[in-house]
Amino acid sequence: MSRFWSALTHRLSPYTPGEQPRMANLVKLNTNEHPLGPSQRALEAIRAEAANSLRLYPDPRATALRRTLASHHGVDPDQIFVGNGSDEVLAHAFAALLKHDRPLLFPDVTYSFYPVYCRMFDIAFQTVPLDAAMTVRVDDYRRPAGAIILANPNAPTGIALSRAQIAALVDEHADIPVVIDEAYVDFGAESVVPLVATRPNLLVVHTLSKSRALAGLRVGYAIGDAALIEGLDRVKDSFNSYPLGRPAQAGAIAAIEDEAWFLEARAYVIAERERLTAGLARLGFEVLPSAANFVFARHPKHDGKALTARLRERSIIVRHFDAPRISDYLRITVGSREQIDKLLAALIELADHSAARPG
Ligand SMILES: Cc1ncc(COP(=O)(O)O)c(C=O)c1O
Repeated sequence: MSRFWSALTHRLSPYTPGEQPRMANLVKLNTNEHPLGPSQRALEAIRAEAANSLRLYPDPRATALRRTLASHHGVDPDQIFVGNGSDEVLAHAFAALLKHDRPLLFPDVTYSFYPVYCRMFDIAFQTVPLDAAMTVRVDDYRRPAGAIILANPNAPTGIALSRAQIAALVDEHADIPVVIDEAYVDFGAESVVPLVATRPNLLVVHTLSKSRALAGLRVGYAIGDAALIEGLDRVKDSFNSYPLGRPAQAGAIAAIEDEAWFLEARAYVIAERERLTAGLARLGFEVLPSAANFVFARHPKHDGKALTARLRERSIIVRHFDAPRISDYLRITVGSREQIDKLLAALIELADHSAARPG
């Protein structure tokens, strides 16, 4: 607290990122990072770029990267916006597209950065409760709204809507912007990128942090009608013209082009997710059906917060949210085979011990 802070700074309630502790033998399952290293081609491109050109500013328009992404998704380069992680792309989308007189709608349980951006940009919002199965019901969004944002698959539940369900939502709200945050889409959900061609109100946000294993590079992007992208560019160029450094642009191009790495790494995560889900279910956990690289699970006999603490004592870090409706759950990243084995072994050990609820 300082008297030198602006009124805005006083009003903020910043997002709390998952911790990045430095502990020996840590089993880190708290921030949905990929268990495998990224594409070798991406690493080589990053190294080469870093060795040769850091003296120079990067291309502020990221022309080559936008071309690569456009051809990957079958759209025009002017339908692509890139930013420093999808968090930055989302922030610009909130400022450029989601602030209106009527409230922005999003689920009561979703990515906890959304209300943070609303406070930052003074955006009125309303949360729409997930149903009892923790699923987004698109019919519940039939109410006055200035804009809508959904994560699909949703976070932290991992549950996905189908493309047809999102198409119905986007069409029903054709006169307001709809943003679909597809941070986890590659792990088993249907992308709505093909809808962009015929829906000028739809913006789809992707990241290289999850399915491309490049969380440390900070590259995210949005796909939408050229007029929506122009809006994002206006905000970006009023904030930071060079959000992506040269190594990030070069690495992202190589990562997108390395389809063989992508398919193999994705198959690994999906197979391990199924093994983790089955292992947790055997231990009595209720595991929500995940289309992401994490699972959201609770145990009828164990308190979520206490279980998280017990795991931490064993150097296993998972994410717990002290928030309404979800405080019983653990969000567990799909780690490597060895990490999942360690987690399941620790949970077996803990099953009859101190984390059990009294009574
Ligand atoms: C739903 C969702 N969207 C966006 C992000 C941001 O990812 P990044 O900024 O690394 O691209 C995350 C990160 O965890 C997320 O869970």
